[in-house]
Amino acid sequence: MRNEIKVETRYRRIVSDIPHPDSRTVIDELSRLEPRSMTGISPVVWNRAEGFQVWDGHGNRWLDFTSAIVLANVGHANPKISQAIREQLDHYLFHSYCNPTEIRLRAVKAMREILPPYLDKVFLLSTGSEAVEAALKLTRMYGQTIASGKIHILSYYNSFHGRTLGAQMAGGFLDQQEWMGQKPGGFHHIPFPECARCPWGRQKYENCGVECLERSLEQLREQDVPDDLFAGVITETFQGPTVAFMPLDYVQALREWADKHKTLLIFDEIQAAFGRTAKWFGFEHYGVEADLICLGKGMTASLPMSAVAGRAAILDLPDPGEMSSTHTGNPLCCAATIANINTIREEGLMANAVALDPVMRKSLEHLCESFPGYVGAINGKGLIWGVYLLNPATGQPNLSLAKRVITRCIELGLLMLPTGGRGTLKIAPPLCITEEALLEGVRVIEQALAECVGGNWNSASTHGTGMVESL
Ligand SMILES: Cc1ncc(COP(=O)(O)O)c(C=O)c1O
Repeated sequence: MRNEIKVETRYRRIVSDIPHPDSRTVIDELSRLEPRSMTGISPVVWNRAEGFQVWDGHGNRWLDFTSAIVLANVGHANPKISQAIREQLDHYLFHSYCNPTEIRLRAVKAMREILPPYLDKVFLLSTGSEAVEAALKLTRMYGQTIASGKIHILSYYNSFHGRTLGAQMAGGFLDQQEWMGQKPGGFHHIPFPECARCPWGRQKYENCGVECLERSLEQLREQDVPDDLFAGVITETFQGPTVAFMPLDYVQALREWADKHKTLLIFDEIQAAFGRTAKWFGFEHYGVEADLICLGKGMTASLPMSAVAGRAAILDLPDPGEMSSTHTGNPLCCAATIANINTIREEGLMANAVALDPVMRKSLEHLCESFPGYVGAINGKGLIWGVYLLNPATGQPNLSLAKRVITRCIELGLLMLPTGGRGTLKIAPPLCITEEALLEGVRVIEQALAECVGGNWNSASTHGTGMVESL
């Protein structure tokens, strides 16, 4: 019934069915005017978002465990970022193509201050996919400076790097590549060392990272591409839907293999950077150097800005004009980038992620204990976590349970990410979240799990939550 208060706490308020009947028109009109691919993320029509909360304009308010797909690290509508964008607007410089600007210099310098010193050049772009495409181009150019035919790219099954041609070829959802008809050659995949679902059937991690890499490379060699012809290996720092990180010994062995074969190691940090894992860049947890990193999303927490950062010897390979983009270094986006970096620093957001890491781990471990057989492993660092839901009869990923839990959480005022066919819950609140709000959100997940596992809740809604494969 409308306007009956179904949920009301300090952080959540639900007063209607979701979507609110008055916001149905927006959903319906959008699906009439846009491609079907744009549907299915959630039934919430966003009207306003601030900090770690989202409003629909009809009296409903959610606690946000999505950060708009791992984007709003500093929180939604951060006032310092709004102010910086406003000041840039008032300065009357909306864009300049690639003509030099002072604000672009300031943005690149702000980036250089937080990057490891050896990543000494930064190339600004607009989207994550564009950054990945640029990294692939640089990698192939680099490879050919060493040997003709050194163009092969190694990446991981179940990885996501974007939806453009090269990025999707590097991505590891092979069923999503069918649209290409004819696939460009030179892309190869190996299993991600995801210990909770070990590709080699082990029950747990036993210092086996080196062996894991060696077994994958052995399989790869059946494709008859000599190791020396790999120009680069690209990996997400953690895999999106499961939040699986690589074991340290695996990454270190990968770095050694890359060094031995003059292969670049590229981290796709589009979800992992800007404090999300409690460090500026997630790959810093691995204790290895990267040759290139791809950045996006949390770089502005607002406007479209992405980047490739890397060693000058690689970024300088294209001649002047050979690698550029119309919206490179857009002044508004540069202003947002600078303000974003300052805000992460000034508001101690990485320290908050450090402090909340053990809180999160403990409360998710409690979920494992409370739902034996249904909740398997957990993965995470800082404020990015994945919870594996299982079918207790088979031990296999429980896709339908994940979908129902996410739907129920949204009805209860907690925004959650759809995580595709991996049967996980992914938790990524803005880094400004408080401990109290975080724990309230986990309690909502617990309630949703109890209702779904107990069979005393069945979704009456017709919207469902789309099971988007890429996140
Ligand atoms: C790890 C990763 N790489 C690349 C991309 C593509 O970024 P964009 O959607 O900005 O093109 C995404 C987007 O979700 C991502 O999560």
